[in-house]
Amino acid sequence: MKKENADEVSNHPRSGGNGEGGVAVASRTKLQETRHDTYAEWDSETTILAVKAALAERHSVTMIEATESAPQRLLEVQPDIVFNVAEGLRGASREAQIPAILEMLGIPYTGSDPVTLGICLDKARAKEILSFHKIPTPAFHVISSLEELEHSSVEFPSVVKPLHEGSSKGILDSSIVRSRKELADQVQRVLNDYAEPALVEKFLPGREFTVALLGNDPSLVVFPIVEIRLDKLPKNVNPLYSYEAKWVWDQSDHPVEMYDCPANIESDLERRIKEICINVFHVLRCRDWTRIDLRLDENGIPNVIELNPLPGILPNPDDHSCYPMAARKAGFSYNAMLNAVLDAAIVRYGIA
Ligand SMILES: Nc1ncnc2c1ncn2[C@@H]1O[C@H](COP(=O)(O)OP(=O)(O)OP(=O)(O)O)[C@@H](O)[C@H]1O
Ligand SMILES: [Mg+2]
Repeated sequence: MKKENADEVSNHPRSGGNGEGGVAVASRTKLQETRHDTYAEWDSETTILAVKAALAERHSVTMIEATESAPQRLLEVQPDIVFNVAEGLRGASREAQIPAILEMLGIPYTGSDPVTLGICLDKARAKEILSFHKIPTPAFHVISSLEELEHSSVEFPSVVKPLHEGSSKGILDSSIVRSRKELADQVQRVLNDYAEPALVEKFLPGREFTVALLGNDPSLVVFPIVEIRLDKLPKNVNPLYSYEAKWVWDQSDHPVEMYDCPANIESDLERRIKEICINVFHVLRCRDWTRIDLRLDENGIPNVIELNPLPGILPNPDDHSCYPMAARKAGFSYNAMLNAVLDAAIVRYGIA
């Protein structure tokens, strides 16, 4: 994928409040930069404008920046519904912030509610729920300090990642650890760089898939499965869909072709993966859309790594954004895909 330029992320276009209803797009915004990957989760202006253009095919659209002024702007604009792509401003429950405000104001919006968004961003909380429902997910520890790490019984190899980030932030080629020393180094890096606990997970060695879902019962659709072909990564790197794999090595002028959609898998495995994903969608109470990442364990059993109720949606197919990729394979153009998400929410609220 092409890395979004930090400068592109700022200054999303705003339009004046007119109290005319219609659809509002609540999008992400720019904070003080602290690290090279600070903006990796946020949509570029290109993406935000593509979302606006898609919805404008059928609706009048007002853009609302997801900042502290958003509540006031929402009151001024009074949209009929909000197309929510806001990553939120800060903290572990950031993705829940705008939806919580929308709930308070009684404004309908696309996608999952604040509870689901908050739980899914905290990967350990989501895994606790998956485990309760006996959905396979790798064994894990949440480590908040090096002292705590000393008392943990971590198996090797493991993967060390920040507890509540996305877009592979903090997941580097070095994040697979095979010794206590590597484990301590990676935990220390996560604690230092992200000021949040580290999630230490048993490493799943098998094939990797990501699955996009659209709609709600009784019309929930599972799009064709995408396989992340880890065997196509550069030689001598670890089999991880890491930050480097997503944003550094795969560039438009020298793309890493590591996506098969539909995945080339036996029908039994395909059925099993789709069953698991529908189950995950239900137990986490997802709405309208979501993308679920899975990997096979050493016995070939699909395990859920994490889920993204606010999936990435880069509009340019060359950028290899998996939700739009899977939707395209199912016959949805980018614009049709976004309008289908909006329609799912409209039907769910019964506000057609
Ligand atoms: N337990 C694990 N075993 C094997 N590989 C893993 C494991 N956890 C993460 N990975 C690898 O790291 C990648 C990124 O992990 P994860 O999906 O948790 O990060 P993310 O930042 O939330 O991703 P996204 O970009 O989907 O938001 C996975 O796609 C996978 O390749
Ligand atoms: Mg992921």
